[in-house]
Amino acid sequence: MCGIVGYIGHKAAQDVVIGGLRKLEYRGYDSAGVAVMTEHGLDHAKTKGRIAMLEEHLEGKALQGTVGIGHTRWATHGKPSNENSHPHLDATRKFAVVHNGIIENYLTIKEDLQKKGYEFVSETDTEVIAHLIADLYNGDIEATVRKAITMMRGAYALGIMTEYEPNKLIAVRLASPLIVGIGEGEAYIGSDIPAILEHTRDMYILNEGEMAVLTRDGIEITVAESGEPVERDIFHVDWDLVQAEKGGYDSFMLKEIHEQPQAMHDTIGSRIDLEHKSVVLPELKMSAEQLAAFDRMYIVACGTSMHAGLVAKEVIEKLTRIPVEVAIASEFRYRDPIFTEKTLVIVISQSGETADTLAALREAKKHGVTVLAISNVVGSSVAREADEVIYTWAGPEVAVASTKAYTCQSLALYLFAMYLSQIKGTQTKEQIAEMVDHLLEIPAQTATILENEASLREVAAKVTEGVQNLFFIGRGLDYAVTLEGSLKLKEISYIHSEAYAAGELKHGTLALIEDNVPVIALATQPELFDKTVSNIVEVKARGAYTLGFAFEGDTELAKTVDEVVYVPRTLPILSPVLTVIPMQLLAYFASTARGLDVDKPRNLAKSVTVE
Ligand code: M6R
Repeated sequence: MCGIVGYIGHKAAQDVVIGGLRKLEYRGYDSAGVAVMTEHGLDHAKTKGRIAMLEEHLEGKALQGTVGIGHTRWATHGKPSNENSHPHLDATRKFAVVHNGIIENYLTIKEDLQKKGYEFVSETDTEVIAHLIADLYNGDIEATVRKAITMMRGAYALGIMTEYEPNKLIAVRLASPLIVGIGEGEAYIGSDIPAILEHTRDMYILNEGEMAVLTRDGIEITVAESGEPVERDIFHVDWDLVQAEKGGYDSFMLKEIHEQPQAMHDTIGSRIDLEHKSVVLPELKMSAEQLAAFDRMYIVACGTSMHAGLVAKEVIEKLTRIPVEVAIASEFRYRDPIFTEKTLVIVISQSGETADTLAALREAKKHGVTVLAISNVVGSSVAREADEVIYTWAGPEVAVASTKAYTCQSLALYLFAMYLSQIKGTQTKEQIAEMVDHLLEIPAQTATILENEASLREVAAKVTEGVQNLFFIGRGLDYAVTLEGSLKLKEISYIHSEAYAAGELKHGTLALIEDNVPVIALATQPELFDKTVSNIVEVKARGAYTLGFAFEGDTELAKTVDEVVYVPRTLPILSPVLTVIPMQLLAYFASTARGLDVDKPRNLAKSVTVE
């Protein structure tokens, strides 16, 4: 998730663009850049670091002109560096591109361009766009961009300018958000409303697959590929700046919950070979043979990331038959773990800066063990120090309560498990293809759950109003995900809750069940369904108020529980990434009903950099 700003008009473009970028820093802040059409042609400046560093860099040498584009980056392809910062220019420096999102087939395009002699200076997927447009340019930038996007696969938003047509800006949206602001003799591009709110409240929201051409005389919106004109109503914004930063949501947490379909798509997208219905992980440096040689794994992490690890343990063991142990990072380094040369340590960290996780990683490295990191922050300490990294492309997570990072970590680990099983031959091609089909449906299924958010508010009221104690139960993968549901509820609603393996309750905790104690039971694993139902009956018999989670069509559970939440049907092995969504919403609604600060729960920090 990066921030894009563009301007054409009569004001100093650099000031408008940088002002807009400052408002978008919540979308990314590892590097920034700006390109302006000056009287000498297209000029640009970019630097690693926050926008303040770009401003410092430009002090006394402002880029003078009234047309410009800019970018604040959240790294995906390539670490934060000056070279990887946007805008990216072609070799002749006549075309400049800013980009948010991922070009899934960029390696193929890059190879084709390299064969034609194009040289690349960055590790990004974005640079291919600049060279591709330069290669295709036929004197008409609109037609060229239309052609270029037919060759690009992925989810992205683009801002493009060229010295050959200096009084024009091009904006393209495919999946990643983009808006166009309307002014008098001027027009704006922004990833989000805050970028341009101080200049205009009248905007067009671009839909998927649309292109806007901005000149000082107006804005034309068309279907990007065909060029067919599009009529769009003006969207007048009444929000204040703070509301706009949260995309109109009440909190960053709710915004991030809603960003999950996109984040999931980005994390899965480029790692699926659609033709062969298999998984590809081009980022791994080790060979297939090296990977196949590991006979034991530790997954080490904290909090929500550790919970993603618990899901991964079940999945990796099931798909590959390699034993996996999940360890809490703060415990791991002090317990003298058993390492052999065939041990792989997987560390999971959204921030990549959690002190306990970093210490565990260093402990493993000290013993010469290979470490694979799953991280959301390119170039973070964990990512830098690990031998291998698989990034989750969830974009910046601002709310303390982790939501989209969890689902993307889980998905990255599903992909890893599937990839490993392909290499080891522990799953057939057909089994992997079936999983791929279902995996690709997960983002849309998540969107469906989110569309029914209002019903979760009612359920949350029934289950959590006036409640001080609550239990989650489940078996197998359902149990793994209840731990995350329980943590989410605790940290933002301050309701005490515990997650129990459903069969374990009767060994002590059942004593705490009395009239109206809520018990949330997950029952999505067919082979464990009857057993879980028996446990639900046990708590009901002690007076519990029960809420069940099941797949759509599994109406059996409704006969036992007081209330049911249905999630779209998927393979049972994939259920955690869907069942967690209503649990996130339950926690969110429980918190807001109590008037609490959802984004900044008491006593907690987003990134825990102390032991
Ligand atoms: O950045 P990390 O993934 O390493 O953070 C680990 C935990 O501190 C984090 O997941 C924490 O549990 C979340 N705030 C929970 O929502």
